[in-house]
Amino acid sequence: VTSPPPLLEHPYSRRIAAVRGALGSAAIDGLLVTHPPNLRDLTGFDGSLGALLVSGSRCTLIVDGRYVTAARARAEVVPELRDVGVELAERSLEETIARVVLDARVEVLGIEAAATTLSRFNKLADAFAGAGAQPSLQPVERIVEVARLIKDAVELAALRRGAAMLSDVAREVPSFVKAGRTERQVAGRIDSALREAGFERLAFETIVASGPNSALPHARPSLRTLTPGDGVVLDFGGVYDGYCVDLTRTVQLSPQTDAFGRLFDAVAAAHAAAIKAVRPGIAASAVDAAARESLAAAGLADAFMHGTGHGLGLEVHEEPRISRAGGHAEETLRPGMVFTVEPGAYVAGLGGVRIEDDVVVVEEGCEILTDVPIDQRLGSFPRSDAPGLAPRI
Ligand code: GLY
Ligand code: MN
Ligand code: MN
Repeated sequence: VTSPPPLLEHPYSRRIAAVRGALGSAAIDGLLVTHPPNLRDLTGFDGSLGALLVSGSRCTLIVDGRYVTAARARAEVVPELRDVGVELAERSLEETIARVVLDARVEVLGIEAAATTLSRFNKLADAFAGAGAQPSLQPVERIVEVARLIKDAVELAALRRGAAMLSDVAREVPSFVKAGRTERQVAGRIDSALREAGFERLAFETIVASGPNSALPHARPSLRTLTPGDGVVLDFGGVYDGYCVDLTRTVQLSPQTDAFGRLFDAVAAAHAAAIKAVRPGIAASAVDAAARESLAAAGLADAFMHGTGHGLGLEVHEEPRISRAGGHAEETLRPGMVFTVEPGAYVAGLGGVRIEDDVVVVEEGCEILTDVPIDQRLGSFPRSDAPGLAPRI
């Protein structure tokens, strides 16, 4: 058994410098980072609660008694964390945040709006009032998230290895899918295979959707027993070294049918069209449009009712959003972005098909990180001419 090569330390100081560089354009002089994946991105801290103040001159991690010993020990030995101070929140997180922020003479403090409950916001305002000074609290969006859009070499190494491990699991999965088993039993086998492969946890609750349930894009595994002729959507993912990977394959138990085969081929064609579209310089929504147009040409426009993909990283659903034009899907693709491509078609009375792979944008186009045959339908389909996919690099 060979153990994986040790990963390099994450470039925390570079990431913190990028946040510092963004303070000015957000019109704040300090950012209070509280969204756990953002804390992890900037410091490696992976506790459930904490805060990081990044100002022009300070970078201070505030944690409670559960985490302080480990956080201080790490800050001492990891060179990338040399400029990060660690403060213990003795009475409450908010009181210590107020002290640290006032100490740093921050006058306009950015608060991560998407990750801050009203209750915590009020506590923080109260803590400042109690400390006798009140910086202006400015809700901000997407400062760390935008920096997280482009994965660096250390992150790509984790994602690559995770995708390879997930692909190994996925190649085994068709052997778990047998008539007579319940969806939950199949999901249980997938979950143990993920653990066995070395994932630290599941990236989300595994989906096994059979027969009529396969026509529901996010069905939960039920006690339904798999039945001959069922289409079965299998969607699962794992977290490796903090980074999420996510994959879907669809199989049909025999006897296989022409109708399901045509649905499968249409989704496989949309998946191939979307992957072919991926390259730097285009809008994320152009990838979605490629999948959508392909399904529309097959008469399945209304059968595809979700986005084509989502970014992968410390979160299983992050930016970029590969969806219809508008909002964040206007993000321009750049090398180093990692996301899923997962078109699907869901037809009541027939069933559903989804095919999902993970890709990274490279200068030349797109590299597929996952590596599993698309056509894992058990036995051979009447129509087995679904386009094959070779990695395009
Ligand atoms: N099941 C989560 C996803 O594929 O996005
Ligand atoms: Mn998935
Ligand atoms: Mn996904």
